[in-house]
Amino acid sequence: MASQFQPIGVFDSGYGGLTILKDFISVMPEYDFIYLGDNARAPYGSRSFEVVYEYTLQAVTKLFEMGCSLVILACNTASAKALRNIQMNDLPQMDPNLRVLGVIRPAVESIGDYTGNGHVGILGTAGTVLSNSYPIELEKWSGGKVVHTTQEACPIWVPLVENNELDSPGTEYFVSKNIQNLLSADPKIDSIILGCTHYPLLMPVIRKFVPEGIQLLEQGKVVSSKLVEYLARHPEMDQRCSKSGLVKYYTTENVEIFEKNAATFIGQTVKCEKVILK
Ligand code: DGL
Repeated sequence: MASQFQPIGVFDSGYGGLTILKDFISVMPEYDFIYLGDNARAPYGSRSFEVVYEYTLQAVTKLFEMGCSLVILACNTASAKALRNIQMNDLPQMDPNLRVLGVIRPAVESIGDYTGNGHVGILGTAGTVLSNSYPIELEKWSGGKVVHTTQEACPIWVPLVENNELDSPGTEYFVSKNIQNLLSADPKIDSIILGCTHYPLLMPVIRKFVPEGIQLLEQGKVVSSKLVEYLARHPEMDQRCSKSGLVKYYTTENVEIFEKNAATFIGQTVKCEKVILK
């Protein structure tokens, strides 16, 4: 087992990736993790392809410098707009042992367990929806289980979460509006992918407006079980991940605000340090 601190890096534009980290910690408590939230520049959802790529590459590079060999982009927008470029163009020039994985493929591969009739809805940021990553990946990786995909961009949801507006009347208004749009675009939808890691934080409000019979796929569960499988298939990477149950938190914004909000989102007090990305 590795002796130094060689954590798994978990990156998001802000607080959303905490919904993924929470499941990592519960499923793999012996592993070490570093969480990095680029709160100073969140949200990424309405930013251009070039900017999301640039910011994500900066974060990934920082996490590698901090000792990570494996980084999970716990952000759909970064997975949609930056992952492929980083995997194809940047990693080969860095170190052949480094890996970056995203959250879209695990969700897509798991959707067969959720849908019965193949009518799937996607809720995501404008960036994720416009990238068309979900329809493309569902076509490739859902094993023919998905026959119809409908997407709805929810540009206001991430700013609501970043500002800790989890259950105000304004939040209910926007959540119900986007869900109604999605369900009226395809009334046959029987399962919805929450295609943004911030959205599980709005779960009580989302559940209020999604009829009982419709399944909701939250990424934390599927991404964590796919990560366990990945490490079992790649023992050389597993050996490069240290296991002393330590989790460190970094933000590009104000540390006190991060600690206060993160505690609400992750259900325990956390100590955070500031990091500058460039
Ligand atoms: N959590 C990110 C995602 O999964 C939010 C992106 C944003 O910052 O808008 O897409």
